[in-house]
Formats: sequence, C-alpha cells, structure tokens
Amino acid sequence: MTSAVFLIFGATGDLARRKLFPAFYSLYRERKLGDRFAVIGLARRSRTNDQFRDDVYESIQEFARYNVTKDEQWDAFAEHFEYMSLDINNVDGFRQLRELTDRLDVKFDIGGNRLFYLALAPELFGNVSHNLKAGGLLEGAGWHRLVIEKPFGYDLPSAEKLNAEIRKVFEEQDVYRIDHYLGKEMVQNINVVRFANAFFEPLWNNKYIANIQITLSETVGVEERGGYYEHSGALRDMGQNHMLQMLAIMAMEPPSRMHPEDIRDEKVKVFRSLRGFQTASEVRANTVRGQYTVGNIKGEQIRGYRDEDKVNPESTTETYFAARVFVDNFRWAGVPFYIRTGKRLPVKTTEVVVEFKNVPNNVYLSRKHKLEPNLLVFRVNPMEGIYFKMNAKQPGSEGTIVPVAMDFCQSGQVGLNTPEAYERLLYDAARGDSTYFTRWDEVALAWKYVDKIASAWGERTDDLHLYTAGTWGPEQGQQLVAEDGFRWWPVNGQDEGEVTWGHTQM
Ligand code: BG6
Repeated sequence: MTSAVFLIFGATGDLARRKLFPAFYSLYRERKLGDRFAVIGLARRSRTNDQFRDDVYESIQEFARYNVTKDEQWDAFAEHFEYMSLDINNVDGFRQLRELTDRLDVKFDIGGNRLFYLALAPELFGNVSHNLKAGGLLEGAGWHRLVIEKPFGYDLPSAEKLNAEIRKVFEEQDVYRIDHYLGKEMVQNINVVRFANAFFEPLWNNKYIANIQITLSETVGVEERGGYYEHSGALRDMGQNHMLQMLAIMAMEPPSRMHPEDIRDEKVKVFRSLRGFQTASEVRANTVRGQYTVGNIKGEQIRGYRDEDKVNPESTTETYFAARVFVDNFRWAGVPFYIRTGKRLPVKTTEVVVEFKNVPNNVYLSRKHKLEPNLLVFRVNPMEGIYFKMNAKQPGSEGTIVPVAMDFCQSGQVGLNTPEAYERLLYDAARGDSTYFTRWDEVALAWKYVDKIASAWGERTDDLHLYTAGTWGPEQGQQLVAEDGFRWWPVNGQDEGEVTWGHTQM
C-alpha cells in the first residue's frame, strides 16, 4: 500500500465509527496498510487525541472483523491516529490542519500523499474542497485524492452543480465517488464469473436469458435517518446508485483491458442504452412504488413509515420501488431486467437472479414434464455465494424430474475473513485504483434515467401503494413481473410458501 495521510471529515459520525475505523484496523492487521500512514479525525466537537483513540478502539471492538485488545499492537496502531476540532467554514482552521498534516507526514515518512475522506452531508463538499485549497492542503509533492459518499446530488441538476464545485478544485481522476455496493465481494465477483468461465459468456444474451432480477431487500426501516429519507425515498437512496450499478455490471460488455477506465467505459455504454421513459404513463406502466404501514417482522411489532421520527405523517415518500428496465442494445434487446428494493421487507438480502429460457417445449422431456427454468443466482449478502438451479432426475424415481441446486457458499468457505466493502474501497482509493468507484458520466446518466421516474411520480400520488411491514411489498410489484409471464424468484432459498404480499392501496 502506498503511504498516505488520511483526513477523515465527519470523524465523530456513524460512518466513521461503523465502517471506516474498523476498515483501517482490518487493513492494518492484514498488513495492507503498512506503517507509513496517519489518520486525522476531523469534526467540530472537541476531543483530545486520547479520547479520539478511545472512540476508535470502541468502534473497532464493536464493528471490526478482528478482535482487539489494548496491547502493544494496539498502541502501535493507535499512535497513527490524531484528532483536530475543525470548523469547516474557517480557512484558518484548514491552515492549522495543514501544519498538523505536515508534521505527521514527517513523523511517519509519508512523502506528501493525502486522502481526504468526506463522511459529510453533500451540501458541505463544495465548501470543504474550496477550503482545502485555500488552506494550502493541496500543495506540495504527492497525490491528493477526494473520497466522497453518496448521495451525489438529489437529481441531475443538483449533481451537476455539486460536481462543478468539486471540479473547481479536484480533477475527475482524483475524485473517488463511493457506491459501497461496488466494494462488496460478490458484486466484484460477477465480472469474474462472467468473464472467466467458458460456459456463461456464450449464454449471456437475449437468445438464452429470459430475464434478470435484482433484489435489494431490507428488514430495517429508516432508523434515525427519517429526515434524509423523506427527501430521498427508495428510488434515490438505492435505485439511482446501487441497483443501476449492479444492473450495469450484469449487462456490460467485456472490457478490452481490465483497466479502470475501460471497465467504467463499458458501464457507461449500458447506462446510455437504458430505455428512457418518454411519458408519465410509460413510467407508471413500468414502475411500482410503495410505502410500509404498521406490521410485524419476526414477531416484532413495527410502526408504519408515517409514524417514524422526522417523517411527515402524510408523507408520500416511497420505501419500496420496483421497475422493469430495458437495455436496448444487441445483447439485451427484449430482455427485461426487474429491479426491486424496499425497507421493512421480510428478509435482508441482496440477490441477482438470471433466469434462462426453457428448452424448446416440443422436445420429448419438456413435452412430458413441466420443467422449471435454469437459474443462476448471485448471493451478495448476507450470505455470499453462487447458486445454480438445474433439472435432474429424482433419484430412485421413474423419471421424475426435479430442480436441483448446485450451491457454492463463499461465506461458508472463507467465513469471517471476507473483507468488508469499505476495507476494499479504502484500500483501492489509497492505491489509486478507481475501478469500483463511480465516474461522473455514470452518475449523470443514472440521474437522467431516474429523474424521469421521479418527475412522473411527482405529478400525482394515487399510484403509491401501501404495504404491510414484513411483506414483500405491494402486490403490484408482483404483477409487474407476472404481466410478462414471469415471477419473482424467492430469495435466500426461501420457500415460496413463505412469500407473502402486501395489499392495501392508497
Ligand atoms: C445505503 C442506503 O446506501 O445502503 C441505506 O442509504 C441502506 O438506506 C444501505 O440501508 C444498505 O446497505 P447494505 O450494505 O446494508 O445492503
């Protein structure tokens, strides 16, 4: 790993505590971080270095993959962490920050590299970038990279404005926009499985694939993020980024080189091929939105979305969203990609299902039997693995054909050692590998697609369907797929009998 000073803005926040500090620790334990690094925690609150190191320790204890104890190894690690209270509107503070950074640079023999991680509200990105420059933090030898969290804007115009502010200070190649789904092991594995196996790529097209289904379901509600979520909703929170990114990875062409820009170029081509909606009625015919009401998950009583903190009691924000998406290119013409996401669904899971077309139904076996289609399933989370469903003879039967599964469970194999998305992303950003970060043109095209949906939804709300917490969302989500003669495949290998659908309509 190259040496760097990591400046964490928002160091007292949730993201730093849950994800970033534990990620630093895992990288350190796995010797990917080396010793030539420093981490400066920045937030408004005043904290001594010792208090900050205690905070870091607690977060590691609670969230890291490795156990930690206050021993010599801990002391050696903690020594790299310092804290500075900073008012991000005050340039003088940034000048002091520069002095601290330079001092740590010398202490740990870093050589000028700086990684600015903004775990902050996006409204602050422009200001911070500006002050980093004004405070002299972008001067001198070494690289200067900016890592930013989503959401990147609220729609295309706001994303453009944000991008323009950042680009006044940083070059595109130095901006690392995080979509943490791209850091997930199994999302990264999709390309490997596709391009490194002789038997998938020849079938990876509209001749053999009937449809592709992407499900990101969550059991949690909006927790303490009601204020943010009210203005975002499922479409902007998950659709514009994680879901379209996964779709692009499933649909992209093999890049000519495994180089970050070539890979991102191929994703951009997918975004350009998305069939945009021309009218509001097209949007309504191809999308479904829903909102959870009071219900029950695993015996626990769950309040409805409108009763959540910081949520308008008459809110029309969607907590569920499903869509039928087409990629209009030679490979995918005519193949629907169904995407769905929702809060307060029965299980937490991320899965991608590739449903293959059936064998011709005039062939002797299919004439006699009702054959199930072949499925290839990427299990991204919480279980990691790949699962292939095919037809075979039931042992001992007189030619009864049953679906059997070949299941590769990665989490079963490597268990605890699967790196967290943030470890991978932090590591990549420090190494200058931007493959799993989103480039501006991808972000812009994704907003362009999503804005059409949002604007049609904004016209009226009578198509917001309520669903009971703990069900699989509104029934209309099922109909969307059924209209084409398909159905959502059960996730997590769950029995179909367990799959329930919510009903109520507003
Ligand atoms: C975030 C969303 O990007 O992803 C959250 O803002 C969501 O609303 C989260 O809960 C889900 O991430 P994961 O990794 O738990 O599937």
